[in-house]
Amino acid sequence: MNPHLEELYRYHKYVSTIISEMEPSVADLEADPNDDMALYKVVNALYSMRNDAEFVHHFNEELIRNELMRTDAPIHRNVEQIAEEHQAFDKRLLYLLTALSGRGSSVELTTQVRSYLENYQDHMQGEDTIFFPMAEKWLSDEHWQRIEKEWLATPTLDPASLDGSVAAARRRSADASPASDKPEHTNK
Ligand SMILES: [Fe+2]
Repeated sequence: MNPHLEELYRYHKYVSTIISEMEPSVADLEADPNDDMALYKVVNALYSMRNDAEFVHHFNEELIRNELMRTDAPIHRNVEQIAEEHQAFDKRLLYLLTALSGRGSSVELTTQVRSYLENYQDHMQGEDTIFFPMAEKWLSDEHWQRIEKEWLATPTLDPASLDGSVAAARRRSADASPASDKPEHTNK
């Protein structure tokens, strides 16, 4: 598989792990919106889904999507709307974080968290099963060279850590960019 696509797949696994690990806390919050510990864990997990690695991941996916649009590939609706979906997810996540951090949880907000996570997982699955295989099939070396020029580097997530705890994955991710928690935005 193309190494850039592998990197994108790996990031999806990482985010899926975060979502799986927050599942019990979301369920606790659904059972009791006043559960402060569950709220704390959910907010923390949501924050870990909104950072530079996430923005860079979407940026890179959109580079690939743009090249795919230049080919004769039959473009699936999911692929056409990738950039809009990325923006919409970011707005929803920002809203949830602001609301949950500011006024605490409620039945309505917890429902929105659940919906956000389900929609996000569907989005990743669509990319894994439709978008990435299309890119693998249709993009030539020339397309990948153009992508390469603008590809942003992210801290590499150790695949081994994906089977372990999210905390370990985050530590490894942070170790990859010791200067700050922000990944280096350098062209490879
Ligand atoms: Fe993605």
